[in-house]
Amino acid sequence: MKALILSGGHGTRLRPLTYSQQKQLIPVANKPVLFYAIEDVIEAGIHEIGIIVGPNADQVKKTVLSRDWDANIEFIYQGDPKGLAHAILVAREFLGDDDFVMYLGDNILREGIVRHLEHFKKGNFDASILLQEVPNPQQFGVVELSEDGKTIKRLIEKPKVPPSNLALVGIYFFKPVIHEAVRNIKPSWRNELEITDAIQWLIDHGYKVGWTKVTGWWKDTGKPEDILDANRLILDDIERNIKVKTNARIIGRVVVEEGTEIDENTVIKGPAIIGKNCKIRNAYIGPYTSIGDNCIIENTEIEDSVILEGCEIRNAGRILESLIGRGVKILKSDNHPRGRKLVIGDNSQLVL
Ligand code: G1P
Repeated sequence: MKALILSGGHGTRLRPLTYSQQKQLIPVANKPVLFYAIEDVIEAGIHEIGIIVGPNADQVKKTVLSRDWDANIEFIYQGDPKGLAHAILVAREFLGDDDFVMYLGDNILREGIVRHLEHFKKGNFDASILLQEVPNPQQFGVVELSEDGKTIKRLIEKPKVPPSNLALVGIYFFKPVIHEAVRNIKPSWRNELEITDAIQWLIDHGYKVGWTKVTGWWKDTGKPEDILDANRLILDDIERNIKVKTNARIIGRVVVEEGTEIDENTVIKGPAIIGKNCKIRNAYIGPYTSIGDNCIIENTEIEDSVILEGCEIRNAGRILESLIGRGVKILKSDNHPRGRKLVIGDNSQLVL
């Protein structure tokens, strides 16, 4: 059994962060989203991992290889991202004739994949997919089940009129017959080789496609609000671990990493995580906040937000429900002329 983890694509819905960073590397609770996928795969006993890389290939390689994994990891260059089924075509040599799990590197699944992999193996399926009921099925691949609810009749990618609220999670198990399927489908209206079409091909040709329902939460972190949501869900499960000495008032489940200084005028209310070598002075860090390494936060209140590494935020008032990229400065000036002085990247979003 092998794993194919996808970490390419342009991540346009996460601009401006994705101008400089591959979307699967954006941290949730201070860990790149992609690492959750790698951990799930290794936990399921899979140690041959291919990672599909695209526009920021070197960045993905460097980040992944900064950790020791209990797996052989190979990077496979996709070139132009032409769809999920195209990623399988590109990975043909790596995958050989083995069964594999394909895991979209921007998906996070709380329960991991062990139970789902067992179902795939026991049922001797040619493919098995994961389903979750969602309130907005138009934004996903959706399935229509047979009348008795036992088998999959049809899969449709981002349907205008969804036949059900059962969305396809971005995790798929395949036998090698999928290679024949991806060779036989045509690009969709959005000019992509859709994995949903390849699975439909299997159904139409009499192959056995199984499914399992996800019981815990699942997040596709494609948009800024999804990153904030995933951050809340992950922080809900953390345990208190303060690795530094401080006289600050720290309430509840809070993680503070080494080298961080927090003065006694600061209040931190968990769940929250603060990375390494930060300086937090006269600040309030509220629930559901993740602050990356090397940040300075002074005279500011931050709640329900994700702040990436190297930010400097001073006298900034109250910051809420925000996603702030690397090395951002938010300062207050008392000099004339007064007013907001902004240097902001393309496609940024400010609510003042
Ligand atoms: C992709 C798939 C879709 C699936 C989703 C899950 O969509 O095409 O079927 O429901 O991942 O994350 P995309 O994220 O490419 O829009």
